[in-house]
Amino acid sequence: MRIVLIGYMGSGKSTVGTLLSKELGYDFLDLDAYIEEAMGTTISNMFVEKGEIFFRKKEHFFLKKIFEEKNDFILSTGGGTPCYSGNMETMVAETKEVFYLKVSIAGLVDRLYKEKDDRPLIKDLSPSELPEFIGKHLFERNHFYAQAHHTIICDAKSPQEIVEEIKKKLA
Ligand code: S3P
Repeated sequence: MRIVLIGYMGSGKSTVGTLLSKELGYDFLDLDAYIEEAMGTTISNMFVEKGEIFFRKKEHFFLKKIFEEKNDFILSTGGGTPCYSGNMETMVAETKEVFYLKVSIAGLVDRLYKEKDDRPLIKDLSPSELPEFIGKHLFERNHFYAQAHHTIICDAKSPQEIVEEIKKKLA
């Protein structure tokens, strides 16, 4: 089985994916970590040294490679993965289990205040700029996130509760 978790930065994809993989026994793959290992550098460095477009090309390449090479996995994507290079079409065509972990703007702002420093797209924003940035960015990305087969509302839920909800929805 191939389970894919999508959602904005800070929506809990990696935490939920790790927990879900322990429960279901499938390998857990974190696309950001996979790219970093394959490229021998961090995503932050890639943005600084080669630029975002270079990163997006690698993201597309490694996403395709995972689907070509593996059949059973739980994959947590980067927040922008569904929004570039036809990646959402690929994921939706390759599995029926794409889950959008949906968190409200207020919830994301709350989480990302504390964890923005290693996220190149938001690290230079001041705390007061975050709500407007996230609101606009989510608006642009919604179109892609909305194509997921399932949406899980994650505000006020623990990772374990989200895992239980995902398990109930699996075909
Ligand atoms: C990005 C999200 C990041 C990472 C990169 C770009 C985005 O992943 O892929 O910094 O465009 O939203 P997380 O969602 O794991 O933070």
